[in-house]
Amino acid sequence: PKTNTPHEKNMDETLALSQEGYLYIKNRMDKHKSDLFKTHLLGQEVICITGKEAAEIFYDTERFVRSGAAPKRVQKTLTGENAIQGMDSEAHLHRKSLFMSLTNNQHPKTLADLAYKEWEAVIPRWETAEKIKLFDEAKIVLCKTACKWAGVPLLESETKEYADDFAKMIDAFGAVGPRYWKGRAARTKTEKWIENIVDNVRAGRLNVPEVSALYKVANYKELDGNLLEINMAAKELINLIRPIVAISTYITFMALALHEHPEYKNMLLSDADAPHMFVQEVRRFYPFTPFVGAKVKKEFVWNSCEFKTGTLVLLDVYGINHDSRIWDKPYEFQPERFRNWQYNPFEFIPHGGGDPANGHRCPGESITVEIMKATLNFLMNKIDYKVPDQNSGYNMARIPTLPKSGFILNNVISK
Ligand code: HEM
Repeated sequence: PKTNTPHEKNMDETLALSQEGYLYIKNRMDKHKSDLFKTHLLGQEVICITGKEAAEIFYDTERFVRSGAAPKRVQKTLTGENAIQGMDSEAHLHRKSLFMSLTNNQHPKTLADLAYKEWEAVIPRWETAEKIKLFDEAKIVLCKTACKWAGVPLLESETKEYADDFAKMIDAFGAVGPRYWKGRAARTKTEKWIENIVDNVRAGRLNVPEVSALYKVANYKELDGNLLEINMAAKELINLIRPIVAISTYITFMALALHEHPEYKNMLLSDADAPHMFVQEVRRFYPFTPFVGAKVKKEFVWNSCEFKTGTLVLLDVYGINHDSRIWDKPYEFQPERFRNWQYNPFEFIPHGGGDPANGHRCPGESITVEIMKATLNFLMNKIDYKVPDQNSGYNMARIPTLPKSGFILNNVISK
């Protein structure tokens, strides 16, 4: 292989990553006119890759493993240490089957119906409030929805606190300093809370339906026939509840899209396929997951570059969702692009690529889509509202990002 793989000359590019955020990888791919480059991040050599073919390679479990790929600081906040995200091979597939059984079949619809009921319940309060911050409201609605669905008891008085804790874990991804420490504290506290609940289920002090996530996780057996260690059971239950709360980010962007593209309102009301297309385009267009990481399992060559065993590789999720070889005018918000769209598991990857049952792709994509559609229905058909002047811009350097105002509504009236 030739040795002229594009590479960044700085000793370390961590600062550039923090300054460019979602666009860090894409900016360099454009500069090098390449689908890969080498760089150094957080003191290690990293290969960044982009494009549909890169995604196919990245999800080939013969070439990549997840064990040791995520930095400890991400595990201690976002995902939980040594939980499903960092597992490989049969142990991963076995654990993944637990998640698949709780995220498909009836579950997306059940969750969407629960979320819609929670949205309806906010109307009286919203009608008398001077203003509403949609992001904060969504976190609470989704925390209630997720806990109800999972079978996790949640008192009204503690809802805001726990909703904020889930959000802090998400917000700590890509953070240093106070945001990181808040995420760690929130995780420690939440794991204790959920451990206690799992313990109550196992000891028979708390009865929950057999179909619930709490019951399934508490009673799930590993390949060796043992129950999950209690802290791991808590982490995996959190791996179901926390990402449901994370849908609040997409809901906030979705409200922004409705506001900035009022031309779609008629289509949304008159065309039965439009809500689905709109939700897909929100997930493609707006930044949420910047990239995903894995380590090379066995040395191979791709695009004349040697991928040595153990090297950390980052797949450019944001860049692939804005790749002009895949998407016509990628920086324009155009839901109709999804009308005749042919599903391809490596082209549209806000939740990762490949097959969720056989790899690390997110199992919660249908849940996300259904909850977003229920929320869109609520915003379009259940209430009228005004959008006052506000700073709804979002910072592409901040990972994760969000409209700065959190999206403010006022003059809410029930329809
Ligand atoms: C993994 C995105 C919602 C559960 C992932 C991954 C991404 C992602 C990018 C990593 C893929 C990879 O490593 O290759 C999102 C986004 C969501 C969302 C943007 C919307 C807010 C959900 C929901 C659930 C969920 C609603 C479950 C209720 C998981 C789990 C994993 C995962 C358990 C780990 C899968 C594994 O390692 O095998 N998600 N997700 N996510 N997601 Fe989601």
